[in-house]
Amino acid sequence: MKNKLKIAIVGFGKRGKTHFRNYQSFPHVEIAAVCDSNEELLRGVGVPICSDYKRTINDYDIDGVSICVPTKFHYDIARYCLMKDKHVLVEKPVTINVKEAKVLQELSVKRGVVCMAGYSLRFDRNIEKIKDILENGEIGNVIAVRGRQAHNWGGKQPFDWHINKKISGGGTIIDNGSHYFDLLDDLFGPIVEINAVASNGGLHSPVEDTSIISLRFANGLIGSIETSWADARGRNNELIIWGKKAVIEYSESNRGGDLNIVSYGSNKDEWNRLTEETLYIPRGIEQIIKQSNIDNNKALLAESTANMLGYFLTLISDGSARTKFLDKHDLVRSVVLVDLAYKSLGQHRSVKTV
Ligand SMILES: NC(=O)c1ccc[n+]([C@@H]2O[C@H](COP(=O)([O-])OP(=O)(O)OC[C@H]3O[C@@H](n4cnc5c(N)ncnc54)[C@H](O)[C@@H]3O)[C@@H](O)[C@H]2O)c1
Repeated sequence: MKNKLKIAIVGFGKRGKTHFRNYQSFPHVEIAAVCDSNEELLRGVGVPICSDYKRTINDYDIDGVSICVPTKFHYDIARYCLMKDKHVLVEKPVTINVKEAKVLQELSVKRGVVCMAGYSLRFDRNIEKIKDILENGEIGNVIAVRGRQAHNWGGKQPFDWHINKKISGGGTIIDNGSHYFDLLDDLFGPIVEINAVASNGGLHSPVEDTSIISLRFANGLIGSIETSWADARGRNNELIIWGKKAVIEYSESNRGGDLNIVSYGSNKDEWNRLTEETLYIPRGIEQIIKQSNIDNNKALLAESTANMLGYFLTLISDGSARTKFLDKHDLVRSVVLVDLAYKSLGQHRSVKTV
């Protein structure tokens, strides 16, 4: 039997625990060690534990490392791992500034070691289907796109470091928006112009909790990204892609996931009829009152995370997949786009990406 892949997880908070649970479902993985600077969190984990990431990397036999610490600390830990030739899955957002992302990218390529960003949205089954739909031209030329990622921290205030810009790099734009900058630039990019507006009117914390960002792409397509930490509906993740022939509607939320291709056959008679009648009679809005709870979403989040970790494991074990990945993977791009969104916000104007 082949040797198991030995994985360490650094950072055993909410995301680290999700990685832990998911790695356990891969029979060819051994969780060689789990590290958190807060030792309390490691009690009873059932695998070797350590409170210092350097010792974790040096003292255990490890092939790859999942880095699940607050964003500011991604850089030091990822850099250390790459210098020790350990493959890295660094959670999103990659780093809090462009300079650090560039160093990681260069190191990864130079040493031939994976440094993959944890943009799990890319690994959502329905997003993978959307790529196929776009490739086979089913919806015609794409005119516009809208991505939305929002939640409300289960009705609570965001957790400590998220609202400390020095550690998080910003608010909902870097936290949620980075997913859609990564995805939309990959699907339709390059994005060439960004204009962001934002507010902290939901939570009144020092960082923005709601944003709307408009985009222009090099191919003429236009788009927008909406993000929020103060959406009373709880978790919701939406992508609408308007093609000339049909529209793709994707949603994933507390209430489940959905993917539809919608096309309305234009019926002239109906248009004419509508002009003569009352167009729309509001029937009252159905009240949907649901207790939002981040923990409810474990199942929804688990699948894309499992797919993402599965891909990381393939990159570790399969040399030719790794070579292809290293040739094209761009760790820096999403960080640049988020950085420009904040520049646009600060300067109250649209900014060009080139
Ligand atoms: N891909 C996704 O969809 C997704 C979802 C949630 C979070 N994340 C990302 O995961 C990362 C962690 O977020 P979280 O919500 O788990 O945060 P968290 O605060 O719940 O956990 C972070 C943990 O890191 C530990 N830590 C801090 N510095 C450390 C160090 N130097 N060495 C070892 N441990 C250290 C803390 O003690 C804490 O337990 C963030 O970058 C976040 O953006 C990604």
